[in-house]
Amino acid sequence: MNTAEHDRLLIIDFGSQVTQLIARRLRELNVYCEIHPYQKVTDAFLTEFAPKAIIFSGGPDSVMREGSPRPPKKAYEMGVPILGICYGQQVMMQDLGGKVEAGEHATAEFGRAYVTPSETRSDLLAGWFMDGSGREQVWMSHGDHVSEVAPGFDVLGTSPGAPFAITADTDRRFYAVQFHPEVHHTPNGKTLYQNFVQLAGFTGDWTMGAYREEAIRKIKDQVGDKPVICALSGGVDSSVAAALLHDAIGDQLTCVFVDHGLLRMNEAEEVVAMFRDHMNLRVIHAQEQELFLGELDGVSDPETKRKIIGRLFIDVFQKYANQIEGAEFLAQGTLYPDVIESVSFSGGPSVTIKSHHNVGGLPEKMGLKLVEPLRELFKDEVRALGRELGLPDSFIGRHPFPGPGLAIRCPGEITREKLEILRKADAVYIDQIRKHGLYDEIWQAFVAILPVRTVGVMGDGRTYDYACALRAVTSVDGMTADYYPFEHDFLGETATRIINEVKGINRVTYDITSKPPGTIEWE
Ligand code: XMP
Repeated sequence: MNTAEHDRLLIIDFGSQVTQLIARRLRELNVYCEIHPYQKVTDAFLTEFAPKAIIFSGGPDSVMREGSPRPPKKAYEMGVPILGICYGQQVMMQDLGGKVEAGEHATAEFGRAYVTPSETRSDLLAGWFMDGSGREQVWMSHGDHVSEVAPGFDVLGTSPGAPFAITADTDRRFYAVQFHPEVHHTPNGKTLYQNFVQLAGFTGDWTMGAYREEAIRKIKDQVGDKPVICALSGGVDSSVAAALLHDAIGDQLTCVFVDHGLLRMNEAEEVVAMFRDHMNLRVIHAQEQELFLGELDGVSDPETKRKIIGRLFIDVFQKYANQIEGAEFLAQGTLYPDVIESVSFSGGPSVTIKSHHNVGGLPEKMGLKLVEPLRELFKDEVRALGRELGLPDSFIGRHPFPGPGLAIRCPGEITREKLEILRKADAVYIDQIRKHGLYDEIWQAFVAILPVRTVGVMGDGRTYDYACALRAVTSVDGMTADYYPFEHDFLGETATRIINEVKGINRVTYDITSKPPGTIEWE
């Protein structure tokens, strides 16, 4: 896809914790944007990127520190609108001849603040100050503040700690705000971004329909008539990547679905039926249950389990991929948050990529080139693209499922008997969640089978069966999580169903640990 054909907005990252949210807000407005660390944004970069507008992000540094991060001067000379946020405002004011003062107790502001408008009005604030209170709630997080605006700038709004909370040079279309319009605690922040991109002349041409067409063109350009292989897991990212590639190159694509015997009830059949029978993709169903379960036999240490599964996965994938003659490309569902090079003042990228279940290292080992058609997308955009490609909601809205599968939901030794019990209990639990209309409210839900048997009584008989734990969490990104507050009635009904319907379980518990200190999975 040629994103250069779109109106492009450049976000220069000065290291704010919330830079990604700026991109989210803009994408919601159908504006194509990219985040780049300030170190990378040189004159040559600006010329090549050719932004229609620029945003300076916030950041932790102080503009008064010698050597603190700056944009190149050229940014101000391109004739394009610029919006500076927090540190970005201070940089802009200082670069253009204004003054910034160090934060003192009285002027530092952290958290909620209220901005009131000045006499001077600007289209940047269309739709602001309308609710009758005459002020807008904003989210501040600054020590330093602007003490003198640069020549040509007007003050559009003030807050108690920031006399120059909103400043603008409307002739040059340079705007700067002390607060963070991208966070939810600035409720009208999206309007401000909308106004800014409108002032900059964006047409909102970043739609999934357009993305799809262009992505297809780009894939064709990249791979020509060469075969491409793709590891299909049935998860959202690999499913959407496979569907998109198939649209672009049809039978040149072969997907390898590795069945390690640790999948949920009917999962393998559903994935294969969906992609092979319904969507006509070439799918190799690698039936390697014996291999995986054999090597896991007697293993109870969680890390050892993970290592065995990771190693076998790569071996198996390679074995099947080798059968595809002339394969030169490996497709992966890498997303934008995985590739953003965040500015990190502690060194190194701040994004941690889970490596357990992808085919990391394989491309080099096998001499394959990567095709990553989702590299520019956020997760919810991938879902939108999936819908655009006709994937059913049951695939697009799926809870995440870990690469090592049920192995890490079966603490202790894994046996076929336990896996079978676990599959049945999990199916009942998910059915309950769906029936109560809770599936989409929950980030992830599953059953773990515990390595203990407990005594129970059913009818007139004694039972001595496994206990299981139900897990359901809310989360945004899986990095932190809270347990889902089910009604007691729901839990009671679910426990009864599991014990009645699943032979082998006679006790059900609910895990109410948040993350941290727990993790989402049990291993
Ligand atoms: P934890 O248990 O670390 O899980 O709180 C966070 C999220 O990551 C998923 N997870 C994995 N995903 N390979 C994956 O692809 C793995 O090895 C793996 N381990 C955990 C987990 O299901 C949750 O969504």
